[in-house]
Amino acid sequence: MRPVNLAEFEDLARGKLTREAYEYYAGAANDGITLRANREAYERIALHYPVFRDVTVRDSATSVLGEKISFPVMVAPTAFHRLACEQGECATARAAARAGTVMVISTLATTLLEEVTAAADGPTWFQLYIYKDRGATLELIRRAEAAGCRALVLTVDTAVWGRREADVRNNFTLPKGLSVVNLAAQAKQAFPEGVSGSGLAAYTAEMLDASLTWQDLAWLLTQTKLPVLLKGVVRADDAARAVEYGAAGVVVSNHGGRQLDSAPATIEALPRVVEAVAGRVPVLVDGGVRRGTDVVKALALGARAVLIGRPVLWGLAADGEDGAYGVLELLKAEFDLAMALCGARTPDEIGRGLLG
Ligand code: GLV
Repeated sequence: MRPVNLAEFEDLARGKLTREAYEYYAGAANDGITLRANREAYERIALHYPVFRDVTVRDSATSVLGEKISFPVMVAPTAFHRLACEQGECATARAAARAGTVMVISTLATTLLEEVTAAADGPTWFQLYIYKDRGATLELIRRAEAAGCRALVLTVDTAVWGRREADVRNNFTLPKGLSVVNLAAQAKQAFPEGVSGSGLAAYTAEMLDASLTWQDLAWLLTQTKLPVLLKGVVRADDAARAVEYGAAGVVVSNHGGRQLDSAPATIEALPRVVEAVAGRVPVLVDGGVRRGTDVVKALALGARAVLIGRPVLWGLAADGEDGAYGVLELLKAEFDLAMALCGARTPDEIGRGLLG
């Protein structure tokens, strides 16, 4: 049966993934308060549509940092795509390119970033952490630059790793043959042996740097000419500071509810961030986007575009590249419909007026 919405892709995926993999992707920190809040906040927003707007001719395309995309949805960085299907991140790259959008490649990919960028000629950005090992961090940046990634997305909400209780219970680890292959050159690709609890949490405890401050962002910005977006911001003061330091964009994100449980819903944090940024750089948002109407809501609140994470994984697990492409195309069709019913012919015509 062909899924008619993103939730049905998740149902299909659940039937195909191992329990450990499904719970890793679906899981959230602690009680899942933020995970649920991300969705519920979208459900509370009503769209006050105008009538008589001649929407016969429409174009859902837009651009983000000069990147033309076919609709205001990009593929968020998520880890370990080869848990979902054999082709893993390469399948995602081909799906994103076919759908005409940007894929943000995760550092925690199960495929070398060079193979992912070579798999399709669509635009890619690269997600980065600043590791304790600054040499390894720089090496990743150089490789992303050389492979043609057009922006870096620095994740800033992981000073320490969130406690995903399902992963603790499942002793989550990667199956034989899969690893954090992007770090293989530094011999940092394997989770520590013999840990009980989440192997990923043990790995990140070794790798991630809890001592990071704004000075580390300043340092990073001197190390690359690529635009750097900060992902994981929910506060106006942090967003303003990011822009003052030279960030090229801000992604309002709470890591899909996987880090601080009780972080605000991203769609509720968005307006204050947009106000603080005041148009100086694009503001993106992720977390809980499951419907075309959600995309309209995010744009009405000032986002340039949104990113989706888990739904792409559900598509991959359901049917590889075609499944991930199916998810993106379904959301694109929903967005076009929602835009039309809101009296808008282009994303730029979606404004605050829709919120009543
Ligand atoms: C990776 O970023 C994760 O949230 O597991």
